[in-house]
Amino acid sequence: MKEVTGSCGHISDMTSREFREATARVIDWITRYFENPEEFPVLSQIQPGDIKAALPGEPPTDGRDFEAILNDFENHLVKGVTHWNHPCFFAYFPCGASGAGIIGELLSATLGLNGMIWRTSPVVTELEDISLDYLRQMLGLASDFSGVIVDTASTSSLCALAAARESLREYNIREKGMAGRDDLPPLTLYMSQEAHSSIEKDAIVLGVGQENVRKIPVDSEYRMIPVELERNILADLGNGFRPFSVVATIGTTSSTAVDPVEVIADICAERGLWLHIDAAYAGSAAILPEKRSLFAGVNRADSLVVNPHKWLFTQLDCSALYCRKPDLLKSAFSLVPEYLTSSEQDSAKNLMDYGFQLGRRFRALKLWMVINYFGSSGLQELLRRHIDLAGRLASWIEESDRFEIMAPVNFSTVCFRLNPRTHKPDTHSPPESQEAYLNELNENLLNELNTTGRVFLSHTKLDGRYTLRCAIGNVRTEEKHVRELWNLLQEQADRLTES
Ligand SMILES: Cc1ncc(COP(=O)(O)O)c(C=O)c1O
Repeated sequence: MKEVTGSCGHISDMTSREFREATARVIDWITRYFENPEEFPVLSQIQPGDIKAALPGEPPTDGRDFEAILNDFENHLVKGVTHWNHPCFFAYFPCGASGAGIIGELLSATLGLNGMIWRTSPVVTELEDISLDYLRQMLGLASDFSGVIVDTASTSSLCALAAARESLREYNIREKGMAGRDDLPPLTLYMSQEAHSSIEKDAIVLGVGQENVRKIPVDSEYRMIPVELERNILADLGNGFRPFSVVATIGTTSSTAVDPVEVIADICAERGLWLHIDAAYAGSAAILPEKRSLFAGVNRADSLVVNPHKWLFTQLDCSALYCRKPDLLKSAFSLVPEYLTSSEQDSAKNLMDYGFQLGRRFRALKLWMVINYFGSSGLQELLRRHIDLAGRLASWIEESDRFEIMAPVNFSTVCFRLNPRTHKPDTHSPPESQEAYLNELNENLLNELNTTGRVFLSHTKLDGRYTLRCAIGNVRTEEKHVRELWNLLQEQADRLTES
């Protein structure tokens, strides 16, 4: 299509007509996309650099007709999309977008609000409080947990650990920093060997240092071993360190293991340590009464993170940080220059006080819309459906004689591998070489599956064993999609093991 632009392109914003036409076309594209996301390969099939090669290397001097821009989107950019909205996206922790979430984002983008302080848009602060309180009630968290929305769990945990560090008044880190504090014992942080890397990264950012992050061993179900935690804390105390916080995970990234929070909370209480809970993915399951036993002890935590953008149909980004000591978050972060003072600063909540970022998007709008659209019972049913689908896949694997389950299926994620008992290279070879063979076989299996473009899975290693993960979390995933995965697994396993 020929591009129509003025001699110097556009020098004002779109007219109402242009905007209406362009958005009508976009909404049409979005609607068709959701009618059949399966027309696209789940995993983008392009090579590094392909998009760069398809687009001009220099910016246009003259603005372009929007039709031409959308054509570029459809013809070039979409090829580089890995479709998180595809119902066969089973990698990492999928979420994808729901209609209510998209509309929330659309309106938020339209308003372009920045909720840095209350008056810069009172609705940002107030709807955030309301939505997070709805979510808190649904999760069964105690009423003294107050929340803020940030971009990711990495940031939520960083802020929580900054508050934990701030609670050590004698360190006065806010004023004095961490460098050259030879007068005070170095801080130590505890998490399981299976905790998410974001916690370790947060320790780097906060100046705790990787060396001072203790990775506590796990049991055969990948849960932190409390006696090992206690042993490490005591050893550190004996060696002149200052233990300050424990991060327990409910739903680890690799296998969705659940650390024994009650016992860990006892240890934290006895030693005066801050307990932060990383429930980024699995936290959403606390809305289900039948899953609450996996959350025993959460109300003893000082802080907790749950990401609606992992398993609550609210697209990236939306991470909820709950903290029982918001004053500590505030004293860690609040810094009010003259140009951000306001007459209501003492009577209203100013979001900038609860983290290191000043600017705040209106993320609460999509969360509020999602909660209102589905209602708590709709969200419960969706999560139950995913848990049920994961249970079905797990039962097919258990019944099969060549696949095996690698970890308990606590939520909607299944860890498994191909282990064709009759196809090992040499049944007398040592276990290490058997395991090396299985690792390679499963890596090949994953690559073959993903290059079909029909499903997308990711992997991990559990006890050094290459493991495939199938995480179910997309609002459009149904049994037929999980069956499609199972059939593909059979086909690829046949191909890889035929001798
Ligand atoms: C348990 C857990 N914590 C934290 C994270 C980090 O999440 P985010 O990308 O929101 O920082 C993940 C990501 O998968 C996770 O599984």
